[in-house]
Amino acid sequence: MEKNIVEMVRKFVEEECKKPNANYPEAYKYHFISMHSIAKKLAEELNADIELVEIAAWLHDIGSIISGRENHHITGAKIAEEKLNELNYPQEKIEKIKICILNHRGSQEENNQREFIEAKIIAEADSLDAFNNISKQFLTTLVYEKKSLEEARNSIKNKLQNKWNQIELEESRKLIKLKYEAAMLLLG
Ligand SMILES: [Fe+2]
Repeated sequence: MEKNIVEMVRKFVEEECKKPNANYPEAYKYHFISMHSIAKKLAEELNADIELVEIAAWLHDIGSIISGRENHHITGAKIAEEKLNELNYPQEKIEKIKICILNHRGSQEENNQREFIEAKIIAEADSLDAFNNISKQFLTTLVYEKKSLEEARNSIKNKLQNKWNQIELEESRKLIKLKYEAAMLLLG
């Protein structure tokens, strides 16, 4: 197995995002980098398998990039399996990464199977990355969903409050607390 497997996986994801037919190419810059950073911090705090968490973080939305948003947890798990087999990553770790990816979406049925800490970290880091991207959420709500400024502000505030209330890991709460309080203050 290559030593710098995390870097190889990161590079693979970055290259896929640069391809002309990539869906959501901007996700690399505006989601993957910051989500990976939260996941890595949580893995360190919680004594989880850091390498596994880092790989799962880079790959968790790869299905979205290559095959589109719908069912991207399922397409992503398959793409991750193929890529990690190609890199000779240990089979039992590939299985765990697949579970992390399959269960990372709060909106999907499979999400009750986060029975190990690495899967919890991936789902939580993905959700909490919203606190790093408030301007992007305004773009989505105002431009794509065509909401008024008032509606956008309220819907973003509600979304962030829900995310805060749904935090499962105490370490996440500590990590995000200042940003949550600042967001509530700014969104009035
Ligand atoms: Fe994500």
